[in-house]
Amino acid sequence: MYEILLRQDLVPNIHLFKIRAPAVARKAHPGQFVVIRIDEKGERIPLTVADWDEEEGSITIVFMEVGTTTYKLALLKAGDFITDFIGPLGLPTHIEKFGTVACVAGGVGVAPIVPIARALKEEGNRILSILGARSKDLVFWEDELRSASDNLIVTTDDGSYGRKGVVTEPLKELLEGDEKIDRVIAIGPSIMMKFCSLTTEPFGVKTIVSLNPIMVDGTGMCGCCRVSVGGVTRFACVDGPDFDGHQVDWDLLFARQRIYLEEEKHSLEQWQSQCAAHS
Ligand SMILES: Cc1cc2nc3c(=O)[nH]c(=O)nc-3n(C[C@H](O)[C@H](O)[C@H](O)COP(=O)(O)OP(=O)(O)OC[C@H]3O[C@@H](n4cnc5c(N)ncnc54)[C@H](O)[C@@H]3O)c2cc1C
Ligand code: FES
Repeated sequence: MYEILLRQDLVPNIHLFKIRAPAVARKAHPGQFVVIRIDEKGERIPLTVADWDEEEGSITIVFMEVGTTTYKLALLKAGDFITDFIGPLGLPTHIEKFGTVACVAGGVGVAPIVPIARALKEEGNRILSILGARSKDLVFWEDELRSASDNLIVTTDDGSYGRKGVVTEPLKELLEGDEKIDRVIAIGPSIMMKFCSLTTEPFGVKTIVSLNPIMVDGTGMCGCCRVSVGGVTRFACVDGPDFDGHQVDWDLLFARQRIYLEEEKHSLEQWQSQCAAHS
């Protein structure tokens, strides 16, 4: 059993848990993820490692409430336990000195991008970051990303904070500017990562995205996380989750993410009616 050491509500529907998992903390690297199961009958869901502390033996995860498992997870508090916490899984993000790297985070994607930006900066890169959210009340970890960056631009869709608009606008301006951008890393909703990739493609700047297909085992055995990259079938859990955004078959990814929509809806309705019956 894995104890929740700390819970923080970052914004109304995004929460941070620090979990005691010494074996995972010893081996975690930026870009990797864990697969968790809340209880014996729980669904397995993947969540990116947002931070870790080898000395304390803890891993930090940040998750957004989107469906049954993440709603259930959000009911837990410090001192509670979850049944499974497997990882670190997936390949770490490739870190080396590229030059100037633009790190683009959308929504909950800011959590996984912070350790990546930090590691890239430690390697001697200049980090220009863009953080996008729908509105001011959904912005979190701005200070964390700022401290890992040489410059940070914040955008909100509704203009309630920072620049009004979406992340691709300042990204295009950076690419058109005087400073050469050597690499872009974009993490966030799939649609945002697709449009970041479309923005950078004409400039020929390598763009790494962290794909989030549905995953089950997270170890390359079930085939659930199948994606197509450069016309080749890859398993995001063992070959990724980072891939070249210019090579991703986005339509296939979107289609496969929708495969279980009916079941997900049914599961949520069932759980909500169980909650209502017990209240
Ligand atoms: C490698 C990886 C890292 C991720 N890291 C984070 C993270 O750090 N923070 C975060 O908030 N979310 C992250 N996600 C997404 C997260 O796993 C889903 O939001 C979660 O599984 C939803 O489960 P649910 O039961 O609450 O919602 P559901 O109602 O089951 O689904 C809601 C949405 O989540 C997607 N989803 C459902 N089950 C899975 C699954 N097993 N694997 C992937 N997607 C699923 C569905 O396509 C659907 O669009 C990550 C996904 C992947 C693949
Ligand atoms: S999650 Fe099963 S093969 Fe990747």
